[in-house]
Amino acid sequence: MAYKRILFSVLLCMMLMLITTAVALAAEDNDFSNETCLQCHGAKNFSVEREGKTIPLYVDIEKFQQSTHGTNLCTSCHANIDSIPHKNVVYDEKLAAEIAEECETCHGDVNAEYRSSVHGQLEAKGESTALCADCHGTHGIRKKEDPESLIHRNNITNTCTKCHDEEVKESYAESFHGKAVNLGSSNAATCVSCHTGHKILGPEDPKSTVSKENLPETCAKCHFKAQPNYAKGIEHWTFEPTGPGAPMYWTLKFFTWLTIMTVTLLVIHIELELVRKYKEAKEGQDNQH
Ligand code: HEC
Ligand code: HEC
Ligand code: HEC
Ligand code: HEC
Ligand code: HEC
Ligand code: HEC
Ligand code: HEC
Repeated sequence: MAYKRILFSVLLCMMLMLITTAVALAAEDNDFSNETCLQCHGAKNFSVEREGKTIPLYVDIEKFQQSTHGTNLCTSCHANIDSIPHKNVVYDEKLAAEIAEECETCHGDVNAEYRSSVHGQLEAKGESTALCADCHGTHGIRKKEDPESLIHRNNITNTCTKCHDEEVKESYAESFHGKAVNLGSSNAATCVSCHTGHKILGPEDPKSTVSKENLPETCAKCHFKAQPNYAKGIEHWTFEPTGPGAPMYWTLKFFTWLTIMTVTLLVIHIELELVRKYKEAKEGQDNQH
């Protein structure tokens, strides 16, 4: 009777294999080609109305193909799209947060760093923060060496100060590094030189690259002779009579007044000299007669 049992097992195995193949084939039907998506999303005026807002749904395929993900399937990032018409659509931050989980499947190491950062911690709490797409963009993501990349050194200031738009933006623009970078310097410090891109932590966290403990090392990447007291930990100060900028404020005030007074004295001196010369000349003329 053993051969019957073996035959039965073989048949069962074959049946299971058939079912698995059928399921796999069905799943493959859900892997829509990019051409399928572009039938609708390739149309320039394609958009949808949501809560009174017009959301453009057009994707510029040329820009996409030139991006670093130009050969990706649309569904590699848009895993939420598994049927046409789509079910459970979401937009804005919700969509970006959903997609961040797909970025993670291919960029696991970067993602782990991001999770440890202030931005990643806020994301975990569902609070408003910087998501992958805020710093990298969506369909036009490029490597940092590419001048069109949002993280290229010429563009990173704008990318970060979209959100950090007050004291930080102002103080960096006034700083030596900010001015140099703005003029196209290829080696002065950008936001990322001091803060990194994915391990960003506030100055109070001892693990932060800008904590009191780690700051000397951070500056020493470029300023070789940096000593612990070279970087006192006050980077973003503005010219104000109180607070961390006070010494600079009063020094500037002092030198401004010193300059004004010196110039005034000089002008008075020149005036007096001129008057004296004029008088002498006139006396000379009078004496000739
Ligand atoms: C590298 C990942 C990635 C790939 C690949 C990708 N997208 Fe996107 N897509 C995004 C991100 C990120 C968003 C923005 C979510 C947000 O912030 O609203 C987005 C948004 C969209 C939107 C919503 C409208 C908008 O612009 O916010 C549409 C429609 C869309 N993508 C279609 C496509 C199509 C079609 C393709 C293939 C040609 C594609 N995407 C490929 C990441 C990607
Ligand atoms: C038959 C036309 C059509 C096709 C084909 C199509 N879409 Fe859409 N798509 C739409 C419409 C309509 C909306 C707006 C739906 C809404 O807001 O109710 C939309 C919305 C979206 C959104 C934004 C909403 C969200 O939650 O993601 C993305 C992203 C998107 N489509 C990606 C894709 C991708 C990727 C493909 C290919 C797999 C695709 N679409 C194929 C019509 C289409
Ligand atoms: C706060 C802005 C910011 C956020 C948020 C962010 N990145 Fe980045 N990313 C950067 C910067 C800046 C660089 C360049 C790093 C450098 O110059 O050392 C970078 C580099 C990269 C690189 C290139 C490889 C590398 O390690 O340098 C990849 C891949 C990447 N990011 C993916 C992601 C993904 C995936 C997410 C979301 C989980 C993400 N990034 C979130 C700013 C950001
Ligand atoms: C299906 C896998 C996949 C997904 C999903 C994906 N990427 Fe990528 N990404 C890649 C590959 C592969 C490269 C390298 C391309 C190359 O070297 O030309 C890349 C390159 C990059 C780069 C440039 C890296 C560098 O060396 O400078 C950044 C930044 C990046 N991806 C961010 C993202 C973000 C943000 C998302 C989500 C919105 C995302 N990626 C989703 C596979 C993926
Ligand atoms: C030369 C190094 C350096 C550069 C360049 C730099 N930072 Fe900072 N940043 C620091 C240091 C040090 C601190 C902590 C002490 C302080 O607040 O001044 C800090 C603090 C911060 C804080 C928290 C401060 C607060 O007030 O809560 C933010 C946010 C920040 N930086 C963003 C940025 C952005 C955005 C850029 C680029 C526009 C940038 N930084 C450029 C070194 C730098
Ligand atoms: C989409 C918005 C957004 C973008 C883009 C963004 N951040 Fe942030 N960042 C935040 C929010 C929100 C917080 C938490 C609140 C705060 O401290 O300002 C934060 C916190 C920080 C902190 C910690 C501040 C502290 O005192 O704890 C630093 C440092 C920082 N960001 C630097 C950067 C740098 C550098 C970039 C660019 C590479 C950047 N951020 C891009 C939104 C953003
Ligand atoms: C990515 C490299 C880099 C990092 C990191 C960096 N700097 Fe600089 N810094 C420069 C360059 C380049 C110059 C211009 C040098 C020159 O032309 O003399 C500069 C100039 C300066 C100046 C102007 C006066 C001078 O010495 O030339 C000060 C002050 C300064 N940096 C302080 C700091 C401090 C403090 C830190 C750490 C919080 C730091 N820097 C981090 C690259 C960097």
